[in-house]
Amino acid sequence: MTNTVRDILVTSALPYANGPIHLGHMLEYIQTDIWVRFQNLRGHNCTYVCADDAHGTPIMLKAQQMGISPEQLIAETAKEHQQDFADFMVDFHHYHSTHSDENRELAQGIYIALRDAGHIKTKTISQLFDPEKQMFLPDRFVKGECPKCGAEDQNGDNCDNCGATYSPTDLKNPVSAVSGATPELRDSEHYFFDLPAFADMLQQWTQSGHLQSEMSNKLAEWFEQGLQQWDISRDAPYFGFEIPDAPGKYFYVWLDAPIGYLASFKALCDKTDGLNFDDYWAPSSNAEVYHFIGKDIIYFHSLFWPAMLEGAGYRKPNAVYAHGYVTVNGAKMSKSRGTFIKARTYLDHLNPEYLRYYYAAKLSSRIDDLDLNLEDFAQRVNSDLVGKVINIASRCAGFITKRFEGKLSDTILDTDLAAEFTSAGDSIANLYEQREFGKAIREIMALADKANGYIADMAPWQLIKEEGKQELAHQVCSMGINLFRILMVYLKPVLPATAVNSEAFLNDTLTWDSHKSLLTGHDISKFKALMQRVEMDKINAMVEASKDNLVAAEPAKQEPVVEAATDFDPIADEIQFDDFAKVDLRVAKIVKAEHVEGAKKLLKLTLDIGIENRQVFAGIKSAYAPEELEGRLTVMVANLAPRKMKFGMSEGMVCAAGPGGKDIWILSPDSGATPGMRIF
Ligand code: MSP
Ligand code: ZN
Repeated sequence: MTNTVRDILVTSALPYANGPIHLGHMLEYIQTDIWVRFQNLRGHNCTYVCADDAHGTPIMLKAQQMGISPEQLIAETAKEHQQDFADFMVDFHHYHSTHSDENRELAQGIYIALRDAGHIKTKTISQLFDPEKQMFLPDRFVKGECPKCGAEDQNGDNCDNCGATYSPTDLKNPVSAVSGATPELRDSEHYFFDLPAFADMLQQWTQSGHLQSEMSNKLAEWFEQGLQQWDISRDAPYFGFEIPDAPGKYFYVWLDAPIGYLASFKALCDKTDGLNFDDYWAPSSNAEVYHFIGKDIIYFHSLFWPAMLEGAGYRKPNAVYAHGYVTVNGAKMSKSRGTFIKARTYLDHLNPEYLRYYYAAKLSSRIDDLDLNLEDFAQRVNSDLVGKVINIASRCAGFITKRFEGKLSDTILDTDLAAEFTSAGDSIANLYEQREFGKAIREIMALADKANGYIADMAPWQLIKEEGKQELAHQVCSMGINLFRILMVYLKPVLPATAVNSEAFLNDTLTWDSHKSLLTGHDISKFKALMQRVEMDKINAMVEASKDNLVAAEPAKQEPVVEAATDFDPIADEIQFDDFAKVDLRVAKIVKAEHVEGAKKLLKLTLDIGIENRQVFAGIKSAYAPEELEGRLTVMVANLAPRKMKFGMSEGMVCAAGPGGKDIWILSPDSGATPGMRIF
């Protein structure tokens, strides 16, 4: 290792601004944050930036469904995302938004540079268009029957049933998932980035140490299939940046998303003395740039992005590091099992450092998926952190404080053991540098085992009772504290809060170099418990809470049916008054009722609840024609979380009664109730 200070810029992928951060995302931000903290702990100048990815059709539509502007939606999401990250101790130097002035200027500048260099082409393409919404439909917003096997309700790009891939225009009986209308084909001129023009550069760049070997191999396959022109424009209406010379055309979200890395860094430079954008991004830059990403977005980062940078006169990253996907208890995160866990739900129940440690212990430099097994998680954190590391300090600190006036011994009892702890530093640093966090943690825990073995052998609690062994006991405990201190240096990138508390206890600031020194004749503070054990109860409560708060957000695979209770249905499980009190029932006036194209059981209702109108899909088509409903009153659950259904957002639930079929009744029009009235 050289002693020169490196200038390093690090990014994590920019999370979409239309949903909450979950524990899958957290793998990436924790991995990156540990790496950045490690670099800074070593004295390098490592800057970490990120931003919300705020553009695109899903964000535009979600805002519409919520009845707010996209700007409002992304502002609210930005706040939540940043709070989640801060609470997980992910320490960005700057967090920006792709919907920002810096990003608009940079995106336009890059586009113009590419255009002027002849890398932008136009071509007229035919695409499905929603005549009701007056918009072109992205693949995932078209549904229909699979052209191969005929399965109903398949997405526009591939079939869940038979696995066929196709284009949305191949679907039979396609419907727009936005409005339910039948889409039609329309022509439109699109702008393309000439990726094939960069084939030689990319082939060379992707095979010369900038990517993990698994990624390079994957890319070799893509090169064999040939690179395609990349469609970078979308027609209005679109939430994004208008293309400078093409009114009504917008940059596709993935064009300006990675430029958000530059924009976030630019915004940081603008407010930081001595940090200079060009020092990092000019072709002659000596700084290092690294992008941490998930395996699903490799294509964008290893082909489009380096080509755009090259074409527009910027330097390319030193490396792109991809990680695998998080599974929970061996399976894809699932809302029904309660394993689709939001960052916030986790934080409501558990200490963020547990997860930081568990992910670190399981991470490697490879792209393998990582399983968060919740029992293993509890067991591992308890046995390693609480049982091994913290235990060293708690076993030794009491004697020092009570018997030796809080002062460590003047001499080091076992210099060989101390030297062993110190000399592990280079190897551990190397593993951190290589993103082999799991291996680093294994080395650290092997040292912790040694420290505990040493203390058990020396048994200071015996010595302290023996005549003439007082000073030996003092030295043993001081030795324990010194070993603990070195372990905390090594763990500091992973456990920032425990490190701070340990520093207070040790009366010492820990930098990486602290592992080379030992404390003698040094005052320490009174020991306070540094970490609690993980309780399985809390994990279970988190899983339960994840079931609650996410069922509503899960896209409905099927139309919900009003499950009409018959006389024979047993009464549901008893609930407490508090559960009942959470349900906000309101009288609602049906101001509009409409058929939903392609839906067999649903009607789309517009409900007036006094303060606002709500759109609700109700499975009462078998009993009512839309015109019979308009003007009538019903009772609705007004505080049910909005639920995305195949046909759009449903913002509540209508209460009706009856055995089903034709016999489902809603409130009578002459009940005397008025819209907005709360039901008790
Ligand atoms: N907005 C794009 C990235 C643009 S970068 C210029 C995006 N956003 S995302 O919110 O879907 O994902 C953000 C990051 O989290 C991505 O790197 C993605 O791979 C990662 N993960 C999302 N779900 C994940 C898991 N279940 N497991 C691990 N990482 C996951 O993609
Ligand atoms: Zn199929």
